[in-house]
Amino acid sequence: MRIAVLTSGGDAPGMNAAVRAVTRGALAKGWEVFGVRNGYAGLLADELAQLAARDVGGIVQQGGTTLGSARCPEFAEAAGRAQAIRHLKKRNIEALVVVGGNGSQSGSASLARDGFPVVGVPSTIDNDLYGNDVSIGCDTAINITLEAIDRLRTTASSHHRAFAVETMGRNCGYIALMAGIAGGAEVIALPESEIQPAELAERLRAAYQRGKTHALAVIAEGAKCGVHELMEYYGAHRKSIGFDLRVTRLGHVVRGGIPSAADRVLATRLGAAAVDTLAKGRHGVLVGLIKGDTVVTPLEEIAGKMRPADASLLELARTMAI
Ligand code: F6P
Repeated sequence: MRIAVLTSGGDAPGMNAAVRAVTRGALAKGWEVFGVRNGYAGLLADELAQLAARDVGGIVQQGGTTLGSARCPEFAEAAGRAQAIRHLKKRNIEALVVVGGNGSQSGSASLARDGFPVVGVPSTIDNDLYGNDVSIGCDTAINITLEAIDRLRTTASSHHRAFAVETMGRNCGYIALMAGIAGGAEVIALPESEIQPAELAERLRAAYQRGKTHALAVIAEGAKCGVHELMEYYGAHRKSIGFDLRVTRLGHVVRGGIPSAADRVLATRLGAAAVDTLAKGRHGVLVGLIKGDTVVTPLEEIAGKMRPADASLLELARTMAI
């Protein structure tokens, strides 16, 4: 069999391990593999090159994606996808593995609807895809956020200052929730749960009243009460609040890490599982790990949906912050 692999959307630590696993898993079956440069944009531009085992050597430990990635609005158009399929078919490529997040797997679903065999591998720091428990890259992103929280806590305690840390995740609060629980945050703001700036500020103040030397808020990128709203509120009520507040926005730093062992293993398992899925004649699906087992879910069922973080865990975080 002849297959191609691409990485798409926001890069995530572990994407390279997934490409390596797809390539070597396929080569081990005697198949041929092509790597596509820069995601769907590279498919449209016909940027494909054959991959040998050595071509994916020394990348398992690298963050980002050596194949390159891009956001590609043209792929949402039928004409764009038809061009992509032409470029695949002229090389007799029979199937495509797409390593990427929510938007990328919507692209996979469209390609499958157009009749081209495709298997999706979930890779996004946001962890907002159905059909898997945790997506490739998320564990590393949580650990980077956690390291920032731990470091900020040092200054927070030394200066009796409050800190608000904003982490990425688009409209999903998973990274903020996990890093907030692991980092012992006093308050966590998520897109999945309402909190007003006044309550957030009050919970930071209450932490000092309980005798804490620091107060830390972890704020998800998509939270309605974001760092902007908090700063605005703080500016207007500075005197009555009675403590200093500093804000750190982690931004793309969160995506830029060396993949953790968990992400490398997950990516290796899912990349190989994508090849096994094709070998069984299945496609039009996303491969994911659910409760430790490899599960395939039709792309149609997951495309365009966003899996929210479990906001019920906020209660646990609050209890631990007493
Ligand atoms: O989807 C991954 C992600 O890092 C989100 O957390 C974030 O909202 C978005 O991508 C940022 O996109 P870009 O890198 O295109 O600015």
